This record gives sequence, structure tokens and C-alpha cells, in this order.
Amino acid sequence: MKASKAQSIISLITCFFLILAVTICKENKFRNILSENENTTEKQGGNTGILRQADDGVQIISTRQIAGDINGYGGSVPLEIYMKDNRIIKVVALENSETPSYFAKVRNSNLLQQWDNLSPEEALNKEVDGISGATESAAAIIQSVQKAMEYAEAHSLEETDASFSFDWILFLGLLAGIAVCTLAITYFSKQQPRAQTMQYVLNFFNLALVIVVTALSIQPKNNQVINKEEPIMTQDNKSTVLESIHARTSIRSYLPKEVEEEKVEQLLRAAMAAPTATNKQPWAFIVIKEKEVLNELGSTLPYAKIAKEAPLAIVVCGDLTKAISGAGSDYWVQDASAATENLLLAAQGLGLGAVWTGVYPIKERVKEVQKILHLPEYIIPLNVVPVGYPAENPLPKDKWKPENVHYNRWKEIR
Ligand SMILES: Cc1cc2nc3c(=O)[nH]c(=O)nc-3n(C[C@H](O)[C@H](O)[C@H](O)COP(=O)(O)O)c2cc1C
Repeated sequence: MKASKAQSIISLITCFFLILAVTICKENKFRNILSENENTTEKQGGNTGILRQADDGVQIISTRQIAGDINGYGGSVPLEIYMKDNRIIKVVALENSETPSYFAKVRNSNLLQQWDNLSPEEALNKEVDGISGATESAAAIIQSVQKAMEYAEAHSLEETDASFSFDWILFLGLLAGIAVCTLAITYFSKQQPRAQTMQYVLNFFNLALVIVVTALSIQPKNNQVINKEEPIMTQDNKSTVLESIHARTSIRSYLPKEVEEEKVEQLLRAAMAAPTATNKQPWAFIVIKEKEVLNELGSTLPYAKIAKEAPLAIVVCGDLTKAISGAGSDYWVQDASAATENLLLAAQGLGLGAVWTGVYPIKERVKEVQKILHLPEYIIPLNVVPVGYPAENPLPKDKWKPENVHYNRWKEIR
């Protein structure tokens, strides 16, 4: 009698756990049953998603997609940025193809700690210096963090709901196990009182089975990837490109502030990313920081006086030894022009101001610039681009004129 009472209680508890298991699966009522710690999350750096959430409310932004086009020396420098309550907890550099000894300089510096405890807005406004000896890696990291923070600002990081998935195979295993135990209990209950101990053992086994298998069946969907399907070129990326294009305007007044070496390199990289006819890249860039040279250019070129005020000027040149020979020889002009536009857009994107001041095809100007910069005959200066931090904030001109557009065939518009 006593034994059968205990048996009933245990069966009741078993049922309770079964119902509980089903409730969890259906309603997602309980959170974080099987919590995985932060280290597990970090190991999942290979994830292709942009944002995922750890069980403790930490949100992790991966820069693989959003900053995949930002390169250090050997390729992109993927990061994971851990955030909680809209503040950066830490920035972690994932595996990359930078030279290890070179990248060690980044790890040994405090670059990755520069953004700790900042909000996305603060991180975006923070000026972070690069690292000498690892300039390109550092620049890529700084830009990648900025991309991630732009992403964080654009998608106010809402808490993801920790939900649960259900493993049906385990669940059916659970049912089968319970059925076997119940049959065994029924069998042994007929053998009473000899097999009473065996009944207790089976009942406990049954109960343990329910608990363990239920726990294993329910897997929290932690670290789930949000925006998994998001393509690399998101609407936001597009608008960043378009925003830069439309925000660019010629800047002719500069603050007395030096342009960092990293930014100079970024300008040059952007310039050299331009398309060129048959990929000849028939160009050369003269970076001028010496006041004396800037003054000389500013005094000589009638429409480039501002070079005297600028901390930096880049002279975009055509290199005729690299140009196409024959009929396409003048393509270098378009190639160097495309590079110049890239440079101007990059300057805008980096918070700098710049202006194209023309040299080629005005022969006297070409000769004068060649003389000042000691250029050989085959290096033709296309322009001088003074660059600096803007001391003016002119509105971009609205140049949109639909009448400049003709569809399919020319139509005279009067
Ligand atoms: C081929 C070329 C030559 C230019 N030469 C000069 C120049 O010598 N001095 C100058 O201040 N701006 C020069 N500019 C800048 C233009 O004046 C400027 O791009 C134009 O007024 C449109 O303004 P935005 O750049 O603000 O859109 C030149 C631009 C181009 C494309």
C-alpha cells in the first residue's frame, strides 16, 4: 500500500515534468536554461551574421560583412564588438591574414581598448590614433569599428528573444524510455512484495529520464544570428555611398591641423581603387606636406592659392610610360580623373575637405608644376588637390537637371 502510494506520487511528478517540457517548447516561457558562456560565443567568430546575441544580453556585432571591404595590409581585419546596454564592452580581433608579427603590434598596443565603455555615438566621434609599424592594420580596425558603430546606431540594438528549439528525436526517445519503464513497473508491481525495491529504482530512473532528456531536448536558440540573410550591400551601405557622393563639395579653407598619415594612405588607396582603361593604372601621386612646396604651388598657380593654407596637397599625375600606346594614349586623363574623384569622395568620407585645382591641359601650368616638383617629362600633373580639415561648411550644390538626360535617342529639348 505504502509502495503504491509512493509510486503514484512519482508518476504524478513524472507527468508534471512532461507537461512542463511541452509547455516550455510551445510557449518559450523560460529563458536561458542551458546558458552558454561568452567564450563559446567567441569561438563562433566564423559566423557570417552581423549581429547575434549571447544569453546574458550581450550583443555581438561581427564586422565580417559590414567592413569586409576595408583592408589592412593582407586583407580585411574582422572584429567582434561586444556590446551591452548600448555600450561597448570590448573589441576582439578575429583571425586575419595580416602578418602575425605585424599584427602583434596591434594586439600589444591598447588600440582595441580605445572604444571600451563608449556608446556608438561616442565611439563614432572619438578620434583614435593609429599605430606606427602597423599603420594599415590599425587603420582597418578603426574604420571597421566605425562601420560597426554606424550599424549599431542605424539598427537600435533591441534585445533578441531567447527562444528554444525542440529536438523531436530526443523527445520521442524520452517517450519510448518512459513507456519501457512504465511497462517494467507494471510487470514488477505484479511480483510484489519481492520486487518492491526494483519498482522504486525504476520509478526514479523514469523520473531522471524525463528530466535529463527534457533538458537535452530543449536547446535555447542563443547566439542566434539576426539579419542572417542580410546581403553585404545593405540599404545602409548604399546610402552611405550615396550620402558621400551628395555631401561632397569643394572645400577651400582649412584648419591648421595636420592630416594623419593613416588618412593620407586611405586617400591614396581610394584614388588607386579607381577604374582605368585596360587596367593600366597610368598614374603617380605626389604627396606634399612641406610648407615651402605648398607655398610655391599656391603662389604659382593662379587658382590654387589655397594650397598655401592647406596642410597637405596631393598632385595627381599621369605617367605616360604606363599609358596605353597608340589611339588610346589619352585615356590616362580619364584614369587620373577617376582617381581624383575617388580621392575627393574619400576625403569627404574621412571628414576632410579637398578641392580639385586644374593643371593639365594648360601647358604653362603643367610646366610650372613639373619644375616645382622636379617631375620628369613623362609625368604630367593633372591637378593639385589641397586637402585639410574643413574650416568652412558650404552646402553641396544641387546639380540635378533632368533635361540633361536623354532616353534611348537624343531629343532636342528647347
Ligand atoms: C577639371 C577641374 C578643374 C578645376 N580647377 C579648379 C581650380 O583651379 N581652382 C578651384 O578653386 N577649383 C577648381 N575646380 C573645382 C570646381 O570649381 C568645382 O568642382 C565646381 O565649382 C563645382 O563645385 P563642387 O566641387 O563644390 O561641386 C576644378 C574642378 C575640375 C573638375
